[in-house]
Amino acid sequence: MPEEKVETESDALIDPIGEMPDFNKTESRMALAGHPIHAMSVAFPVALTFCTLGADVFYWITGDLFWARAAVWAAGTGFVLGMIAGLSGAAELLLVSGIRARAPAWTHFIIAVTLLAILGANWGHRLSGYEAAVLPYGLLLSGLSVLMVMFTGWHGGKLVFDYQLGTSKGKS
Ligand code: HEM
Repeated sequence: MPEEKVETESDALIDPIGEMPDFNKTESRMALAGHPIHAMSVAFPVALTFCTLGADVFYWITGDLFWARAAVWAAGTGFVLGMIAGLSGAAELLLVSGIRARAPAWTHFIIAVTLLAILGANWGHRLSGYEAAVLPYGLLLSGLSVLMVMFTGWHGGKLVFDYQLGTSKGKS
C-alpha cells in the first residue's frame, strides 16, 4: 500500500506575486492634472523621427539644401524631446512599484534606450556637415530610427493597453 504524503508547511507553494503587496499599484505618478507626462511627451519624438526620414527622402529626390537642413533640425529636436520623454518614462519605472515589478516595463526601457542611442547617432552624424551626411548614412540611420520608433511605440502601447500600466490599477 503506497505511503500517504503528509504536506508540511514548508511544502506549501508560495506565490511570489501574492507576496508583493504593491504589485497592483500601477497608477501614473509622473502626471500633470492626472494626465501622464510620458504618454503626452512621446508623440513629439515619434513624429520628428518620421519627419527626419521624410526630409532625407525629399533631399535625395530634389537635392534641395533646405531638406538637409530640415533633417538636421528634425533629428536634433527628435533626440532632445526623446530624452525628455525617456526621463519621464524612467521616473515612472523607478517610482511606481507595480510598474517596476513587471518585466515588460524593463523590456520597454531597453528598446527605448536603443532607440535613443540611434536618434543621438543620427543627429551627431549630421553635426559636422549636414548636407554631406544625408546620403547614404543619414538616410539609413533615419530608416532604422523609424523602425525602432515603431517598435518602441507599439511596445509602450502594450504596457498601457495590455497591462494597464500608468493608467489605473493593473488586472493581475
Ligand atoms: C528610457 C526610457 C523609457 C522608459 C523607462 C519608458 C517607460 C514607459 C512606461 C512605464 C510606460 C507605461 C505608461 C506610463 O507609465 O506612463 C510607457 C508607455 C509608452 N512609451 Fe515609454 N518609456 C521610455 C521611453 C520611451 C520612448 C523614447 C518612446 C518613444 C519615442 C516611448 C513610447 C511609449 C509609448 C507610445 C507608450 C504608450 C503611451 C500611451 O499610449 O499612453 N517610451 N513607457
